[in-house]
Amino acid sequence: MAKIPVIMDLDTGLDDAMALLLASRSDAIDIKAITTVFGNQSVDKTCENTLKLCELLGIDAPVAKGARKGFLTKEIDYSTGLEMMVHGADGLGNKGDLLPAPVKKPDDLTAVDLMAKVLKESDEKVVILATAPLTNIATFILAYPELREKVRCIAFMGGAMYGGNIKPTVEANIGHDIEAATVVINSDIPKVMFPLDATMKVFMTKEERLAMKDTGKIGTFLAEAIQCYEEIYDRLAGIPGAVLHDSIPTAWLIDESVVKLEDYNVQIELNGELTRGCTVTDTARRFGGELNCKVAVDADREKIIKMHFDALNK
Ligand code: BDR
Ligand code: CA
Repeated sequence: MAKIPVIMDLDTGLDDAMALLLASRSDAIDIKAITTVFGNQSVDKTCENTLKLCELLGIDAPVAKGARKGFLTKEIDYSTGLEMMVHGADGLGNKGDLLPAPVKKPDDLTAVDLMAKVLKESDEKVVILATAPLTNIATFILAYPELREKVRCIAFMGGAMYGGNIKPTVEANIGHDIEAATVVINSDIPKVMFPLDATMKVFMTKEERLAMKDTGKIGTFLAEAIQCYEEIYDRLAGIPGAVLHDSIPTAWLIDESVVKLEDYNVQIELNGELTRGCTVTDTARRFGGELNCKVAVDADREKIIKMHFDALNK
C-alpha cells in the first residue's frame, strides 16, 4: 500500500509525542515534514521536544519552528497555568531531560515556508495533520492560497461539539488561537475535525502505561513521561487514564475504521462573552449552512491503544 504523504503540525506535548510514535511506525504514513507551534509549551520548547523525539524514534523528516503566539493574543506565560500542570514545565511531563539534547537542528525555513516547499515538491496531495493551535495552518492558507489544491485534507485535533477543556465550551487547540481556527474552518480545503467528544474516549490506563515499559527504551521513556498526564486526568476529570487526544487523527490516517465520522456544519463562535472559541456544530443538521467539516463522533479505545503497542513492538 502506498504511504500517504503527511505534514504534522505539533505543539509537543505528551499526546503529540504519542501521535509521533504512531506516525513514525506506520506503513500508511510518510512524514514529509514536522512543523511546530506554541501551545502546550513555548514554540522553542515544542520544537526542541520534537527534535528530541525525532531522534528517539528515528524520524529524519525536517522540523521547522512556527508561530510563538496566536494572531490576536499575547505570548503565553508558561511559568504558571494549566499547560504546565497538564504537560509538565518542559512539555514532556518533566521527563524531557531523560533524553539527550538533540543533535538535529530546526530547518532554516519557517514552519509555513516548509509546508509550502513540501506541497510544491509533492506529486501527490498531502494531508496536514494538526494537533495544536491552528496558527501555522491559518498563516499557510493566507500566505499560499495557490497551494490549497495540493492539500488532501486538514485533519485536526480540536474543538468540542459539547463541552470544553479550557472553558466550559472551549477546547485548548481552538481556544489558543480562535481567529486562526476561523480561517481554517472557513477555508475550502476538506477538513476533518477530531473534537473532545471522540478523543476523550481514548485513554491509556495505568496498567497499559506501565506495560509500555516492557517493550523497550522508547516505551519506557513514554511511560515515564505520560505519568503526570494520567494523574491530572484522574484529578481534573475523573478519567482512569491518560487521554491520548492527538493519537486519534493519527490513528484514523492509519486505519479509518477506528473512528466514526459524520458531516456537519461547524462554525467558530467569535463573539460570545462566555462561549468565544466554541466550535458550534449543527448536530441536528437543521439550521442550514454547508456541511463544511467531517467530525469524529466516536473512537475505538481498545483498537487505538493496541495500535500504540503494535508501534512499540515494531
Ligand atoms: C489538545 O490540547 C493539547 O493540550 C493537547 O496536546 C491536545 O492537542 C487537547 O485539547
Ligand atoms: Ca497537541
